[in-house]
Amino acid sequence: MSQKILITSALPYANGPIHFGHIAGAYLPGDCYARFQRLRGHEVLYLCGSDEHGVAITLSAEMAGRTPKEHVDLFHEINRQFFQKLQFSFDHYSRTTWSGHYRTTQEFFLVLQRKGFIEEKTENHLYSEHEKRFLADRYVVGTCPKCGFTEARGDECQRCASSYEAVDLKNPRSKLSGTPLVLRPSTHLYMRFDLFKDQLKKWLESKSWKENVVRFASSYIDDLRPRAITRDSDWGIPVPGYPGKVFYVWFDAPIGYISAAQEWAQSIAEPQRWKDFWLMDDTKLVQFIGKDNIPFHAIFFPAMLMGQDLPYKLPDELPANEFYLLEGRQFSKSEGWYIDLADFFTHYTTDQIRFAIAANAPETSDSEFSWKDFQMRCNAQLLGKLGNFVHRTLTFVHQSCQGQIPSLCCFNQDDEAFLEQINELTETAAQCFENFHLRKACQALMDLAQAGNVYFDLKKPWFLAKNPSGRAELDACIALCLHCIKTLALIASPLIPESAQKIWNMLGNQSDLAKDSWEQIQKMALSSGQKVAEPHVLFRKIEDDEISRQIEKLGQVIHTQKEIPLTSEPIQYEPLKPAIVFNQFDAIDLRVGQVLEAEKVPKSKKLLKLLVDLGFEKRTIVSGIALSFEPDQLIGKKIIVVANLAPAKIMGIESQGMVLAAGDDAKLELPQIQDLAPGSSVS
Ligand code: MF3
Ligand code: ZN
Repeated sequence: MSQKILITSALPYANGPIHFGHIAGAYLPGDCYARFQRLRGHEVLYLCGSDEHGVAITLSAEMAGRTPKEHVDLFHEINRQFFQKLQFSFDHYSRTTWSGHYRTTQEFFLVLQRKGFIEEKTENHLYSEHEKRFLADRYVVGTCPKCGFTEARGDECQRCASSYEAVDLKNPRSKLSGTPLVLRPSTHLYMRFDLFKDQLKKWLESKSWKENVVRFASSYIDDLRPRAITRDSDWGIPVPGYPGKVFYVWFDAPIGYISAAQEWAQSIAEPQRWKDFWLMDDTKLVQFIGKDNIPFHAIFFPAMLMGQDLPYKLPDELPANEFYLLEGRQFSKSEGWYIDLADFFTHYTTDQIRFAIAANAPETSDSEFSWKDFQMRCNAQLLGKLGNFVHRTLTFVHQSCQGQIPSLCCFNQDDEAFLEQINELTETAAQCFENFHLRKACQALMDLAQAGNVYFDLKKPWFLAKNPSGRAELDACIALCLHCIKTLALIASPLIPESAQKIWNMLGNQSDLAKDSWEQIQKMALSSGQKVAEPHVLFRKIEDDEISRQIEKLGQVIHTQKEIPLTSEPIQYEPLKPAIVFNQFDAIDLRVGQVLEAEKVPKSKKLLKLLVDLGFEKRTIVSGIALSFEPDQLIGKKIIVVANLAPAKIMGIESQGMVLAAGDDAKLELPQIQDLAPGSSVS
């Protein structure tokens, strides 16, 4: 029976480009699930969008020298395109700066307030005497109260995924200046999560979710306290009746799942349609998240929903994945430990990466992308098993069956056994998709392709073709192989939609596979006599040397940053320059500058183009430090600049100053300033 299924993937912060690490957690599993459920004939609404408020945004915007609005506009677009490139099938991709989202969030709050779930309290908050302002969330770093990690963020710990109030941190410091913070009273609004304890407990007990989710959520229940839902900031959704205050990002962001449905409904000119999904008990709500988002989706957001007048759905399923690493370490663009996506997609296809991630998804423990694994998935599996079976079968159809699907009449035992295998593996794959086991779904796909290869080898159709008396058996064999290929296209469709469609078309089908029905395709017999297309290559082979080059690239970045080469050779000192008098030195105006932007100068190995803030003005400076620093490493750093050097054109760019660096081109270090403001004199 067809069901309404509302599917969401955690709204990514629009504060930087997302990477494969994110994709493996909350995104690809969501997309495969949505694609599968559509094939099953369910009415799916799959939503996502940018999370655009909060300190994650203001802090990175500040460091990049952009306004928060400029910052989110940029990354909303970049991330939207990235999802498109990866063939994501969102029905709508919204953003939390949409005006309708402001309205819905404020209404949500007003209902909670009217029902007595909001209280005003004056409590101690962290204040920076150095910066003369209250700091919250990611502006604060300190020691995690749960696991003792010393660099924990002010609202959630990136090591143990706990969520807490910034005042709970030990040894709190400012993220920007590193200076210690003090407690000062300030008035804020608090949501009485404690009042939802029993209701939450009962609800959670009724769920049979993954063990990590249940354990994590339960650990919050006993210690539910009121939590501040407002912040002092000018970036965020204004709190009605409290000028100068905005909602805490984790208050407004999850409401984004609702406003995204509202915006979608408007876009299809049926403004009430969102209610069919959010307010109907017979809808199934499935929320895909990364493990660091568990407390918000299993406790805090459900409580906010329970506190409304309208009968909002609570999540029915909360598949939360673990972390996905890159060759054993967390993806980190600033440390050069990442994959350049523009470069990636010039060499490899969307389906190759979708398959590699899905086959190795971090479902029960952390997993990782490694180039070797990627090569193995592409060559041994996609090409060696799936691509190979499709190719040899279709080639044979053209050689020995006039390019047409033969009719399937007499079966022998081997044929029966193969058919049974096809049916079983299709059922296995369906179960896996249904239960969020992408790794096993990929396995089922490969097992089926391999079963096809084994059957082909066993039947030896090339041998049967030599003898007219083998014709009926040959026809049955090839018809079954084509039936298997049809099934492979079906199972592959949620995982690698582009290749699945190509295979579908090669069988002579014209329709859009993703819009077809799982059940019907499974049952349907291919029409004998239908022409099949000439086979063409589905997956390219990835050579060893390109993989070595990719691995080297990662290594190099780390090498230039982290390791000082050990050398036993004596240092060659530069000869000392002739003496100068004090006035000559004093004529040089050295200033502290803060790097706002940094990018490589095209066609140059050594040059970076920097935008540097000198306090009184911003300067473009071209600097020959690219062999030692990645652009991202420099952003936010305070360096020393020769501020009165006459401008000079370098590679067509006017450079308005010079950056002081020690060392030679191959290995440079920058003297750095900790606390002084940009523009301060250096002498
Ligand atoms: N932006 C958050 C993150 O990346 C996730 C927000 S999910 C939502 O961790 F529920 F708030 F939308
Ligand atoms: Zn921790």
